[in-house]
Amino acid sequence: MIRIAIFGFGAVGKGVAKILMDRERMNRLIGNYSVVAVADSKGSIVSSSVNLKEALKIKEKNGRLPDGMNVIEIIEEVDFDVALELTPTNIDTGEPGLTHIKKCLKKGANVITSNKGPLVVAYKELSKLAERSGVKLLFEATVGGAMPVIKLIKRDIAGNRIRSIKGILNGTCNYILSRMEKERLSYRMILAEAKELGIVEANESYDVEGIDSAAKLVILANSLMDMDVSLKDVEIEGITEITPEAFEIALEKGYTIRLISEVSEDVLRVSPRLIPLNNPLCVHGTLNAILIKADLAGEIFVIGRGAGSLETASAVISDLAELYSC
Ligand code: HSE
Repeated sequence: MIRIAIFGFGAVGKGVAKILMDRERMNRLIGNYSVVAVADSKGSIVSSSVNLKEALKIKEKNGRLPDGMNVIEIIEEVDFDVALELTPTNIDTGEPGLTHIKKCLKKGANVITSNKGPLVVAYKELSKLAERSGVKLLFEATVGGAMPVIKLIKRDIAGNRIRSIKGILNGTCNYILSRMEKERLSYRMILAEAKELGIVEANESYDVEGIDSAAKLVILANSLMDMDVSLKDVEIEGITEITPEAFEIALEKGYTIRLISEVSEDVLRVSPRLIPLNNPLCVHGTLNAILIKADLAGEIFVIGRGAGSLETASAVISDLAELYSC
């Protein structure tokens, strides 16, 4: 029996809970499991088998989980095999996720996270800690939502040296830019719509100023290209200055504008770039798209849904399968 603890019960946590309620799908994937704790920032439910339907109902009705143990107390007092650390990202300090992840790894529990902050701040330290404790730290959901990237590179093209990764890593910016391309509305108007879709970070500047893309780039560089970089090493320019007129000029010449993130030996940059309209990276809506250049496999394009509750939860579930696939 796999004992699962869920920390964070926002869009991603609720998406994960909905998939975990699908017993038929999940039993086939990982065998027997039980959720032993669900916590958000205000409260929690701890039980040998948490009723997720009930937890979702309570969260929906009250906007929070009932008073109970906090995450730290759960980590210290409850036995579980894997923690799903799905709390909101803080890219500057990594907290509170960083402390949660460290404590879980030290205790000997596997960790699956969608939380970029801890990895941006302390990837090397966390991966060493996981190794020392003989457990795994998996983080597919931190980059590209449902779009496979981390396991694709680590597993499916294992043995390749990655020369570069270039593409679109932020669904919100891509949604805004592709709507500007079509409708020539101002970026502010479309940002408001993106918020309604629930894809925008709690701190919207993370998205529109390119910080979220840069954080993902740092995770890719450090975990897949054996680099040791941090956020301050990334040249970052966001999309706030892009006007509908800029699209007019680009489109006349057969180009559009996208926020492109790029990492290679010489480049670590997030910036708006002109992309030919017929380039595979020219995707629309909340899609993410990347071009991977690998020394043996050559070029690989990946396109997928970069944000959203079930989409990001899909990546979390794929990490559960990586750990426990029957
Ligand atoms: N705000 C992010 C995006 C969510 O729009 O891509 C996924 O990291």
